[in-house]
Amino acid sequence: MRLDKLLSNMGYGTRKEVKQLMKKGAVRVNTEPVKDAALHVDTEKDEVTVLGERVVYKEFMYLMMNKPQGVLSATEDKRDRTVIDLLDAEKEIYELFPVGRLDKDTEGFLLLTNDGKLAHNLLSPKKGVPKTYYAHIEGIVTEEDTERFLEGVILDDGYETKPGELHILKSADISEIELTITEGKFHQVKRMFEAVGKQVIYLKRLSMGSLNLDERLALGTYRELTEEELQQLMQISGE
Ligand code: URA
Repeated sequence: MRLDKLLSNMGYGTRKEVKQLMKKGAVRVNTEPVKDAALHVDTEKDEVTVLGERVVYKEFMYLMMNKPQGVLSATEDKRDRTVIDLLDAEKEIYELFPVGRLDKDTEGFLLLTNDGKLAHNLLSPKKGVPKTYYAHIEGIVTEEDTERFLEGVILDDGYETKPGELHILKSADISEIELTITEGKFHQVKRMFEAVGKQVIYLKRLSMGSLNLDERLALGTYRELTEEELQQLMQISGE
């Protein structure tokens, strides 16, 4: 990769600003000062420093966000704010996108990355990655619903869902549940409840595979995955 591109991607300024740094002798490759912006560096082998600070090249970025309501899980939209609009400007260079979709009024766990292969694997119906949701349901959720979800329910378009694991946390006029499903059909949780004559009035995703939403993340905030979480993610996606 060209040296100026590498430094610009890693947040050392525009290509022009990076050139200025080089002119000043601030940039070294394998301890040698370099002034040639077009120099090709091997990001695995070459040691690049700026003012003595090692530049560690990262191609991929993985963020966990606690998505708030009212924001679209898309990269851009003419009318509404998107989850990408919630990121710091310095993340722009990574060209992140959300892995899968949560409805505008759904909160919770959302993964953002620029790793297309991983995203593809996580969303592949073949992998059947489990996703767990917490919801408030209008009406009394019963054991019969649990059984029906286990068998799979027929959605409004005639599609029969795979088994869903429903746990009733509170059965009341407004019930509280947790539901784990291994698919990601459009509005799936809402439509599964509609199939048993009930309505979801609040929905939050808690987890994807073994990755749980970090409850310390306030709505609309995010953090990078830890090394351990990243390993788990790679396992889930079969990498
Ligand atoms: N199911 C839904 O109905 N909505 C979501 O946002 C996610 C799953």
